[in-house]
Amino acid sequence: MKKTLDEHAARFDDVAAEYDDEKTPEYNECVALVLEHADATGEETVLDLGCGTGAIALGLAEDAGTVVGRDISEGMMDQGREKAADRGLENVAFGEGRFREPNYDGDVDVVTSNFAMHHLSDAEKREAIDIVADLEPRRIVLGDVMFFGEPNPDDPFYSPEVDDPATVGVLADAFTDAGYALTEVELVHDQVGVLIADRR
Ligand SMILES: C[S@@+](CC[C@H](N)C(=O)[O-])C[C@H]1O[C@@H](n2cnc3c(N)ncnc32)[C@H](O)[C@@H]1O
Repeated sequence: MKKTLDEHAARFDDVAAEYDDEKTPEYNECVALVLEHADATGEETVLDLGCGTGAIALGLAEDAGTVVGRDISEGMMDQGREKAADRGLENVAFGEGRFREPNYDGDVDVVTSNFAMHHLSDAEKREAIDIVADLEPRRIVLGDVMFFGEPNPDDPFYSPEVDDPATVGVLADAFTDAGYALTEVELVHDQVGVLIADRR
């Protein structure tokens, strides 16, 4: 992690009100793919980690039974809470929680995360994947900045001073070691992808 949790939280609190304003096509495609692959219906419970302003949590709440959003930035989650109220969504709850301490121990069917895990170091990502796996969801859908090849140092999709993306190989190993099999891999950009991991 290139910044402390408090520094990340403060950084996102500062931009929360404008966070939804301008998004790259790659981010939008990633959101659409995470929603499509999460595919939570009916009574299922989804845990969305690093939920921010709710791009995934609110998108899934339309169809899922319950959605639990967890983040370290109250400013980001306040935006999500407002949008949930505007849309009349009562089955989504936002609260403080971290990748490695999700602050949730109920049943969960699907865990999602979009554009958030790249703030953790590779060792922390592995620890987070193990902790999520202990909740025994049937599926984990991870959309994020990740390297499919050598990143072009002159054209990084990410901010090297605050972000710490992993290679797809490191993430695949972590899912496999945690008892999950990668069943699909979506390449959005050579530095952005969506991994779908199903419980073995
Ligand atoms: C780029 S935003 C993505 C938000 C949302 N998932 C989306 O797709 O728009 C990254 C989010 O991750 C959160 N975050 C960063 N480190 C975290 C951690 N260790 N645990 C939980 N959330 C974290 C930040 O507060 C921020 O809201």
